[in-house]
Amino acid sequence: MDLKKSHMSAPIRPPKSGQRFQVGRSQLLALLALLLASNFAIFGLFYQPQRWTEVPLHSEITLARCRALNAKPGPPPSFNRRTQSDRFQPGTRAVLVKNATIWTGRVDGLEVLRGDIFMDGGIIVAVGVVEKSVLDSHEHDVVDAQGAWVTPGIIDMHSHLAVGASPQLLGANDGNSLKGLVLPFLRALDAMNTHDEGFALAVAGGRHNEFDLARLSRCNGYVGFVIKIRPTKERSSSALLLEPPFGINGSEVDYNVPPRWRHMKHACGENPARLYDGTRMDTVWSVRKAYDEARKMKISQDEYCEKALAGQWTGLGDFPSELALEALVDVLRGKFKVQTHCYEAVDIDAFIRMSNEFQFPVASFHHAHESYLVPEVLKRGYGHPPASAIFSTFARYKREAYRHSEFAPRILADNGLKVIMKSDHSAIVSRYLIHEARLAHYYGLSTNLALASVTSTPAEVLGLDHRIGFVKPGYDADIVVWDSHPLAISATPSQVFIDGIPQLVKPHISKKPASQQRAPSTPDFEKEIKATIQHEGLPPLEPATRISGPVLFRNVSSLWSQSESGEVRMAQADGNVLVKDGAIVWSGSDAELSLTLVEGAITVDLQGGSISPALVSAGSALGLHEIAMEESTADGAVFDPLSMNLPSMLGQTLPRAADGLQFGTRDALLAYRGGVASAVTAPAGDGMFQGLSVSFSLGSRNKLEKGAIFQEIVAIHISISLRFASSVSTQIATLRRLLLEPPKNEHEFGFQQAGEGVIPLVIAVNSADVMANLLLLKKEVETYYGQTMKMTFVGGAEAHLLAAEIAEAGVGVILAPPRSFPYTWEHRRILAGPPLTEQSSAALLASHGVIVGLGPQGVSPEAPSMSTWAVRNLRFDMAWVALESGGSVSKEAALAMASSNIEKLLGVQSRASEFAVTQGGDLFSLDSKVIAMVSSKRGVVDLF
Ligand SMILES: *[C@@H]1O[C@H](CO)[C@@H](O)[C@H](O)[C@H]1NC(C)=O
Ligand SMILES: *[C@@H]1O[C@H](CO)[C@@H](O)[C@H](O)[C@H]1NC(C)=O
Ligand SMILES: *[C@@H]1O[C@H](CO)[C@@H](O)[C@H](O)[C@H]1NC(C)=O
Repeated sequence: MDLKKSHMSAPIRPPKSGQRFQVGRSQLLALLALLLASNFAIFGLFYQPQRWTEVPLHSEITLARCRALNAKPGPPPSFNRRTQSDRFQPGTRAVLVKNATIWTGRVDGLEVLRGDIFMDGGIIVAVGVVEKSVLDSHEHDVVDAQGAWVTPGIIDMHSHLAVGASPQLLGANDGNSLKGLVLPFLRALDAMNTHDEGFALAVAGGRHNEFDLARLSRCNGYVGFVIKIRPTKERSSSALLLEPPFGINGSEVDYNVPPRWRHMKHACGENPARLYDGTRMDTVWSVRKAYDEARKMKISQDEYCEKALAGQWTGLGDFPSELALEALVDVLRGKFKVQTHCYEAVDIDAFIRMSNEFQFPVASFHHAHESYLVPEVLKRGYGHPPASAIFSTFARYKREAYRHSEFAPRILADNGLKVIMKSDHSAIVSRYLIHEARLAHYYGLSTNLALASVTSTPAEVLGLDHRIGFVKPGYDADIVVWDSHPLAISATPSQVFIDGIPQLVKPHISKKPASQQRAPSTPDFEKEIKATIQHEGLPPLEPATRISGPVLFRNVSSLWSQSESGEVRMAQADGNVLVKDGAIVWSGSDAELSLTLVEGAITVDLQGGSISPALVSAGSALGLHEIAMEESTADGAVFDPLSMNLPSMLGQTLPRAADGLQFGTRDALLAYRGGVASAVTAPAGDGMFQGLSVSFSLGSRNKLEKGAIFQEIVAIHISISLRFASSVSTQIATLRRLLLEPPKNEHEFGFQQAGEGVIPLVIAVNSADVMANLLLLKKEVETYYGQTMKMTFVGGAEAHLLAAEIAEAGVGVILAPPRSFPYTWEHRRILAGPPLTEQSSAALLASHGVIVGLGPQGVSPEAPSMSTWAVRNLRFDMAWVALESGGSVSKEAALAMASSNIEKLLGVQSRASEFAVTQGGDLFSLDSKVIAMVSSKRGVVDLF
C-alpha cells in the first residue's frame, strides 16, 4: 500500500465544499489528545512517541466520500437553470406546439392551460403564452394542436420492457434470476435489450419513461433503472437511462455533487417463496439477514469515516465496502427509492415492520392488491407512507390478488395515499397504461389524480419530479398530444415528443366525436365502495334483486334490438320500456303509459340510459375456475394426447366444458355486472386439444336453474401453435387425419362431425402461416365431404395479413385480445392500429367481410385461463373498436362483434334473448353503469 507521510495535523483541513464543519482551537486540542490516547491504547507497551501518522494516498477521495456518506440524492441546485438537457440529441429542432389544452400536472393536477408549448434543447422553455422574443430568437417547427389535449409523457412505474423483450425468445429471456433469494447486486441495466418490439408500440401509447424491472418478483433485491424509451443514436442500453447513478460506467464519482436516486426492487409473498421452496417466513428472514449484514457494514463505514475525518489514519486501512452489499448499505443511507412487490396485507405489514426495523422508507408497493384494505399500515411506513402501484381491474389471477378491487385507487386516494397505475408490461401491454388510469377514473378516482397516476405521481415517487411528470418550463421536453381527452375511451396520441423529438412518423389520426374531448363524468359507485371495504375486498356480487314480474324502465334514451339473423339495430326509445318475464313487451312515451299496462311494475329510472342486447364472451376460461393459478379452485387441464400417455380409463373421449362448469365465480359475476350475459367456454388445455365448449348464463346460481345452460355443446376447440412440443406439421397432419378418416371412437367422431360441417371447429391460432394451411385444409375437407365446414379462428393476431383469403373461405375470427401485441413469434406481425396504422385488426378484417368477434383484452393469449378477469371490460373494448375506426365500424357493428357475431361464429342458437340495461348513458360509455340484466331465457330481470 502506498503511504504518504505527513504531519499529524495535516488531515484536518477545511472541507472543500458540502458539509462545512468548523474546528475550534480547543476542539482541535481535545481531538489531538484523543488521537494520542487512542494510539496509546492500541499500541500499548510498544508505544513510542511518534511525530508522523500514515495518511493513505486516497485520503482526499476517501474524505470526500466520507463527507458525502449520507448526502441526500437529488438534482444539483443549478438544475433548474439548465438551458439544455443532458439527453439533448444534437440536431433536434426547436418546436412550438400551438393551441393546446394543457394538463400541466401542477396545482395537484388541477391546472389546465390553453395555449402554446415551446421546446428547445430537449427541455420545455415556455408554457401557455410564449414570448415573441423567445420565438424570434430560435428557428423552430410549428405543430398546430387545434385545441387538443396535451399531457406530460406517460410514466410506467412497473414494466419489464427490454428485460423481457418481445417477442419472447429464449435468447432474451432475462426477466429473472434464479440464483438466490436475495440478490441486491443484480442490475436490470445489464439485461436491457434494445430491440424489444414493445418500445415503438409503447411510444405510440404516449409512454415516455418507465421504471424497468427485471421480472424480479422472483428474487429479492435488484437494482432497477429508469429509462426513456425512444431510440437513441448510440443504440445502447446505457443511452436509454434517465439520470443513471454516477459511476455506473466506471467513471470517477464526484462526491461534491449530490448523488442521484437509485432504485431497489424487493419482493415479498408467494413469488419468491414459491420459487425457492420456502415460505413467507423464509423470505422475510433472508431479507432481514441481508439488511443486518448491510447495517453492520454501514456501522463500520461510519466508524471508519469518523476516524478518517478526525485524521486518525493509522491502521485504518481502506474504506470498508463490499460490492455485494453496497446497494443495501445505500438503502440504509436513504439513497435508494425502495420499490417492493407485495400483494397481501400480511406481506405489506411484514415489509413495513422491516422498514421500521432497519429504518429506510419504502417508495412504493407494487401490485399492492390489498394495500387499500390496510391504509393505516401504509401510514406507519418509516419516513413516509409508501405509494401503491397497482392495476385497475386485473385481479384474481392468484390468491394474492383475490381481494383486489377496482375501487382500490379511489379508496387509497380517500386515505390520502399516493396512487400509481402501472402495467407490469406485458401483463398489461404498456402501450395501454393510460387505459388503466381511465378505468381507475371510471371506478371513482378523480380526473386530476387519475392523470397524475401515470405522470406526476410516479415522477415524484421515482425522485424525478424535478424534470419529468409535469408540463413546466425547465422540464424535459416529454409531452403527448392526444386525439381526445386521455381519459376518454380509445384516446390515442397523435404525436409524442421525447426529449423534444417527435416520435411518430406520419401518425394515423382518426377523428373522434366531440363527446370524447372531455373527461367522462363517471357513475356513482359509493354503495359498491362501501360494500368492498365492509367485506374486505369480497363484496357480494350476486344481483341484489331478481324479478320475474313486470319492470318499467323510465327515461330510456335508446333501445337496441337484434334481429333473428343477429343484426344489431339502434332506435331512439320514447322514454319507457316495459319488461315482463324477462322479455321486452312494450315501449312508448309517457303519454302512452296507462295504469293498467304497468300495474304492479317496479319502476327503474335509467337517467337517459339504454337497453341493448347483452354481450357474449368467448376465448377465455370463464366459469372453469375461481382463481386461475390456484389449481384447487379450477377445473384443471385437459390431457394432451399428442404429448402424453392418456390414462386408459379415459378412453378416446372429447371432454365437455359443461361438465366442469362452476357458477357464480367472481370473474363471471363481474362480467355479468359489465353487461355480459353469457359465455362460451371450452375446456382448458395446454396442448392441441381442448374439447367441446358450452354456452352458459353468467347470472345463474347453478347448472340446474332454468336457463343456466344455453347450449350444452357448442363447438370443438383445438389450438395449433409453434409453442407445442409436437411440430405444427404434426398437429396439422393429426387434424387432417381426424377430419378425413372414418372415426373409431368418440374423439374421432367429434372431428368427423366438424369435417362434415355439423359442428363448428374453433381453432386457437395466431400465425398467418398456420392460418393459410388451415384454409387449405378446410377446402380439402369440403371437397371430400361436399359440405361446407364451419371454421373459426380464435386469437388471430396475424389474421389481418390474410383478411381477403379468410373472408373468401368463410372463416370467422374472434380477436383475443382485440388489441394484440407481439407477445411471441406467432404474434409478431400484428396490425398495431392508430396512430401506427390506419386501421385496427377488427376494422380491417370487417372491411374485408370477415365476421369478427371480440375476445377479452387479457393477459397472455396462450393461457385463456389468465384472461377471465378481463371479460368485464368487453363493453369498453367494443367501444374502442368503433371509436378508433373513424366511422368504418359503427356502434351497431361493434356491438355485434361483442355479441351476435360470437354466437354466429361458434354456432350458439340463442339470439335476441338477453339485454343489458345501463343508467346514465349507453353500453359504450364511461358515463354509464350497468344496473340490470334482462333475461328472457331465465324469465327474470336482475337488478344490481
Ligand atoms: C384552437 O383550436 C380550436 C379548435 O380547433 C379553435 O376553435 C380555435 O379557434 C383555435 N384557437 C386559436 C387561437 O387558434
Ligand atoms: C460515464 O457517464 C458520464 C455521464 O454520467 C459521462 O460524462 C462519462 O463520459 C462516461 N464515462 C465513460 C467512460 O463512458
Ligand atoms: C332523463 O335523464 C337525463 C340524464 O340524467 C336528464 O337530463 C333528463 O332530464 C331526464 N329526462 C326526464 C324526462 O326525466
